Amino acid sequence: MERLQKAIADAGYTSRRKAEELIKQGKVIVNGEVIDTLGYKVDSNDVIEVEGHTLNKRVIKEYYMLNKPREVICSVHDEAERLCVTDLIDTSARIYPVGRLDYDTTGLIILTNDGTLANILMHPRHQIKKTYIAKINGILKEEDFKNLRKGILVDNRRVSIDNFKVKKQDKEKTTSLVEVTIHEGRNHIVRRLFENMGYDVLKLNRSKYGCLELGDLKSGEYRSLSESEVKKLYDYR
Ligand code: URA
Repeated sequence: MERLQKAIADAGYTSRRKAEELIKQGKVIVNGEVIDTLGYKVDSNDVIEVEGHTLNKRVIKEYYMLNKPREVICSVHDEAERLCVTDLIDTSARIYPVGRLDYDTTGLIILTNDGTLANILMHPRHQIKKTYIAKINGILKEEDFKNLRKGILVDNRRVSIDNFKVKKQDKEKTTSLVEVTIHEGRNHIVRRLFENMGYDVLKLNRSKYGCLELGDLKSGEYRSLSESEVKKLYDYR
């Protein structure tokens, strides 16, 4: 339940203060009844009319973090009927993924029906940092470290690396686990930056997205974001 003037303001009709005036002037009707005193509370089922205009039914915003498994597509629908990230979340809300992970990439993806937040998170201006753990087919050399510090050119644009760390090396199998943090969102960017260094990415997992971390969420599991997490995401604005 929320105050009527807040519901009117949240629907984008006018400011909260102006909404209070309209209520006092008897210009607001809830479920067919004029409400002209402040303090009245409504929920998402109430039909609100202001000066003869019915406000759009308020859509309850939902926010999830999913640990995406491999072979799941970051979309709400797939022509080829492959499993989509939205199929893994039990809700009737029209949620969608914020950005993309490749079909074979695992890890943290946010899903929501809040277009305002999705736009904030995807806007390149906000430079949200994302951390990936890449398993590559090689052992990084001194020259690679230098290049990573300088940033790697991909299609003539430098990807600046906010942070990187070799987490593990297997000299027998000549593979490494490298953690990289970047703040850009070009398609397949992590795979491409390692390819440009001469390595293939054998596995890729996103472990962090801005202030969010996967934690102990298992592959295919999801959870709702808390109010404070949503607020922190809004703070990237
Ligand atoms: N970079 C990639 O190469 N793939 C992803 O899925 C995400 C970032």
